Amino acid sequence: MQVEQNGDVFLLLKEKQPVGQCVCKQQQNGWYLEQLQISPEWQGKGYGSFLLKQVLKATGGYAQKSLHKAEAPQNQAACALLQKFGFRQQGSEWVRRREPDPTAVGLTHQFLQHLLQPGGFFVDATCGNGGDTEFLCRLAGEQGRVLALDLQQQAVENTNNRLQKAGLAHIGKAIQLDHAMLHTLVEPMSVDGIVFNFGYLPGADHALFTTPKSSLPAVTAALQALRPGGVLAACLYSGGPNGTEEKDTLLAFFRGLPIQQYNVLICEFGNWASTAPLPCFVMKKNS
Ligand SMILES: C[S@@+](CC[C@H](N)C(=O)[O-])C[C@H]1O[C@@H](n2cnc3c(N)ncnc32)[C@H](O)[C@@H]1O
Repeated sequence: MQVEQNGDVFLLLKEKQPVGQCVCKQQQNGWYLEQLQISPEWQGKGYGSFLLKQVLKATGGYAQKSLHKAEAPQNQAACALLQKFGFRQQGSEWVRRREPDPTAVGLTHQFLQHLLQPGGFFVDATCGNGGDTEFLCRLAGEQGRVLALDLQQQAVENTNNRLQKAGLAHIGKAIQLDHAMLHTLVEPMSVDGIVFNFGYLPGADHALFTTPKSSLPAVTAALQALRPGGVLAACLYSGGPNGTEEKDTLLAFFRGLPIQQYNVLICEFGNWASTAPLPCFVMKKNS
C-alpha cells in the first residue's frame, strides 16, 4: 500500500490501483481536510486509518504543534475515524490540535512574567547561549537592565552576540564571572529577579557544568542581592552523570529557608519521571 501526494491531493494506492483519496489544504494557521474517501469495497478494513495517518504525517500532524480541521463527517464510521486520530467536534467544525508539552524553562518564563515588572534590574546567573538573558531583557524593557554571568567565555560571547542581533545590547550585557562571586558586582537588596538555569552549556563541552560547590554559595549570594519582593528562579536538573547532587543540595537549601523571610515554590511535573527538570522559585518577603 502506498500514498502518492500531488499538491493537496493524497491518493491511496493498493497494487498501484487507487482505493482512496484525501484532499488536505494548507490554511493560514493549519490544515483543512476537505475530503477523505475510501472506495466502498475497501471500507472497514483499516485503509482509512492508513491514509489519514500518512496525510497527518505529511502535513506536520505529529510535530510538536499543529492544527488540523475537517469537514463534518458524513457517517458514524468517518466520525469514529476522526475521533481515533484526535479530532473533536467544536461547533460546526472538527478540530485536531497538538500543543507542545510545557517545559521547565517556558513555565519559569511565564511565571516570572507575572511576578516581575518592566523597568527592573534582573540577573541571569547562568547565561549560556543567552535564551534566558534575552527573555529578561525583553521583560526589563527600555527602562530596565540585565546583567548576565557565565563561567565560560564562549557562553559570554554567544549571549552578547544574541543580544546584539536582537537589538537588546543596550539593556543587557554578559560578563565572564563565577556566579558565586555575584556579590562583588551587585549591591545587596538591589536586584528584582535572578534566574539560574543549572547544568551544562548546550552545544559546548559537557564536562563543564554547574556543581553544588559553586551553586550553593551562588544562590546564597543571590538571595542577599534580591530586594524585598524580588524573585529567584532556579531550574534544577538530574538524571545525567551530574546534577543529582546539585539538585538534592539546592532543594534541601530552598526547603530550609525561613518562612518569615521567604516563600518557596517547588514546581514538580507530577506525572513525569523523577528526573524531570524542576523549576523552583524563592520569593523574598517585603518585611
Ligand atoms: C544550562 S546552561 C544555561 C542555559 C542558558 N540560560 C540559556 O538560556 O542558554 C548552564 C550554564 O551555566 C554555566 N556555568 C557553570 N558553572 C558556572 C558558574 N560557577 N558560574 C557561572 N556560570 C556557570 C555553564 O557554563 C553553562 O553555560
